[in-house]
Amino acid sequence: MKKMIISAATQYDIPWIIDTQITNHGSYLTAQEKEESGFVSVLTPSLFLNKINHNKKILIARLAEGEYQGKPIGYLITCNENDAQDHPFFKKVFSDFIKKDFDAHRCLFIVQIAKITELRSRTKGVGTALYEHLFESVIPFTAHRYVFTEVSPKNPVSVKLHERLGFEEVKRYKDVFDNQMILLMKEVNKKA
Ligand SMILES: CC(C)(COP(=O)(O)OP(=O)(O)OC[C@H]1O[C@@H](n2cnc3c(N)ncnc32)[C@H](O)[C@@H]1OP(=O)(O)O)[C@@H](O)C(=O)NCCC(=O)NCCS
Repeated sequence: MKKMIISAATQYDIPWIIDTQITNHGSYLTAQEKEESGFVSVLTPSLFLNKINHNKKILIARLAEGEYQGKPIGYLITCNENDAQDHPFFKKVFSDFIKKDFDAHRCLFIVQIAKITELRSRTKGVGTALYEHLFESVIPFTAHRYVFTEVSPKNPVSVKLHERLGFEEVKRYKDVFDNQMILLMKEVNKKA
């Protein structure tokens, strides 16, 4: 795995995140690209991203060496229940699913994880590095006990990544676009 530096996003990273979301969006990829590299199904408005970024909720991965040295190559966006009120999809995930069985104050939701499409098959380990930083350097300093995310069963890369990291299926449901989604959860901080 190439050496990566993970840090909190700045306001200057937000337009880059939006561009990266668009190039990773399912509607721009062929079926083969989706199968090989995954895809995102939600575009988040800059207002939402700027607001959660103000609370240091977005991580950026940069390569420590080589052609992309210092440039952002991947991101991980998180939100808590409060942040989720500003986005209809994530608000619904909290109200319809998470809050029914868990103390929402102890829950962090992963809105999205992605890397740049240029590195699709060349640089592996970006997703793992972002999550490792979240688990080791962010979560221990918070009151969060559970991390949730939703994945599409049609996104094998994301399913594999989250399975390997120890996420477990909580339930299956249809999202607002009638796509089948799987809600995953990992207990990360038993003391919280
Ligand atoms: C999801 C994403 C961030 C993962 O980044 P990454 O650098 O590939 O992540 P990692 O290499 O750490 O882990 C990916 C895992 O999927 C596996 N994988 C890759 N292609 C696969 C495929 N077609 N089928 C099954 N597993 C696959 C990898 O082997 C790796 O598992 P392993 O390390 O146990 O071998 C990246 O693929 C991406 O940006 N995809 C587009 C956006 C997306 O789908 N995001 C998730 C939904 S929000």
